[in-house]
Amino acid sequence: MHPKLNAAVVGCGIGKSHMLAFQKVPDLFILAAICDLDVAKTRALADELKVPKTYATLDALCADPAIDVIDLATPPHLHLAQIQQVLAAGKHVICEKPLVPSLRDVDFLTGVEKRSGRRILPIFQYRYGHGFQRLKFLQDRGLTGRAHTVNIETSWRRRDDYYAIAWRGKWQTELGGCCLTHAIHAHDMLTYINGPVARVYARCTTRVNPVEVEDCAAITFEMADGSLAGSTVTLGRADEISRHSFVFEKMSADSNLRAYDSSGDPWVFKGDTPALQAEIDAALAEFTPEPEHYQGQFARFHKALHEGGEIPATLADARQALELITAIYWSAESGEPVTLPIGKDHPNYANWSPAKYRA
Ligand SMILES: NC(=O)c1ccc[n+]([C@@H]2O[C@H](COP(=O)([O-])OP(=O)(O)OC[C@H]3O[C@@H](n4cnc5c(N)ncnc54)[C@H](O)[C@@H]3O)[C@@H](O)[C@H]2O)c1
Repeated sequence: MHPKLNAAVVGCGIGKSHMLAFQKVPDLFILAAICDLDVAKTRALADELKVPKTYATLDALCADPAIDVIDLATPPHLHLAQIQQVLAAGKHVICEKPLVPSLRDVDFLTGVEKRSGRRILPIFQYRYGHGFQRLKFLQDRGLTGRAHTVNIETSWRRRDDYYAIAWRGKWQTELGGCCLTHAIHAHDMLTYINGPVARVYARCTTRVNPVEVEDCAAITFEMADGSLAGSTVTLGRADEISRHSFVFEKMSADSNLRAYDSSGDPWVFKGDTPALQAEIDAALAEFTPEPEHYQGQFARFHKALHEGGEIPATLADARQALELITAIYWSAESGEPVTLPIGKDHPNYANWSPAKYRA
């Protein structure tokens, strides 16, 4: 048994789900502290979850020598500076999406991470749902065959109450709209299975809410392997759903429709012939579920830190997700398809916001 790591979570919004996740893998992590500028909220959560220590600033938390890992669940525009602060304090950092505001920043962090001797774990918790992991398991065993198409739907509901929080809805602080904040997971699931994207064509619009950033989008992806994907995103649907429908040479794979748990069980895997179905069913009988969602990513992180091997999501994964965002926003702004990869010479390498919203 490897030693437990002392974790601290910063941010008492979605951060509460991170706190609960650390407590679901008690053999691996101790939720040792939580931190938020809002002292009353922190105190109440610490009492509810029985967390021993609270901090009102990241400075004070970073000075605590007992903490091994600091998990940032703070607003997006703060991540870049806070990641550097945590690494400089000699601690590993976990950080919510979107990791940083540009491809330039994620490339910069690659050097910072190497020099620090610590790791940066970007959050992509949807990867670890059991239904989606079953698809990965079948793919790794050669049972899917070549990919043909993918349909992705992220149809959620966000209204005034959501945008009442000041950092949301603005390019300077949220850094993007539904493509960045909400569909980033669905697009990461696409590349996790179908590999890199070669070309993107996107249309974005703001129809549901009186905000700066987009809240509806339609995107087509040409994947490097030749397969095609279509993704629609809206924040205007009354009964929220997420959908991922993969069509392969030998089988199709369909997610459940639960908006925030679409990677969880059940998924439906349909073989192209009775013989293929029998192979799929036989393989699935051998699938051993590991922890899923946030606790799944944290548990795999603990294992990689102690046993070696790659951590579950790296800066390269964050770069891939942010490269897609850069391509989506550039296509939406220019009206043209965008060919990947996007390098230093791209006009939006240092900032993907539309020109009129740049500082
Ligand atoms: N992975 C997911 O599924 C998922 C879901 C929701 C949100 N998120 C991401 O998580 C992040 C936080 O989102 P949220 O909805 O919880 O936001 P939120 O505004 O509800 O909560 C953020 C918290 O951080 C605190 N905070 C702000 N600045 C701070 C600082 N300097 N030091 C300490 N605390 C500080 C705030 O007081 C607030 O309580 C965002 O990047 C968001 O995109 C990810």
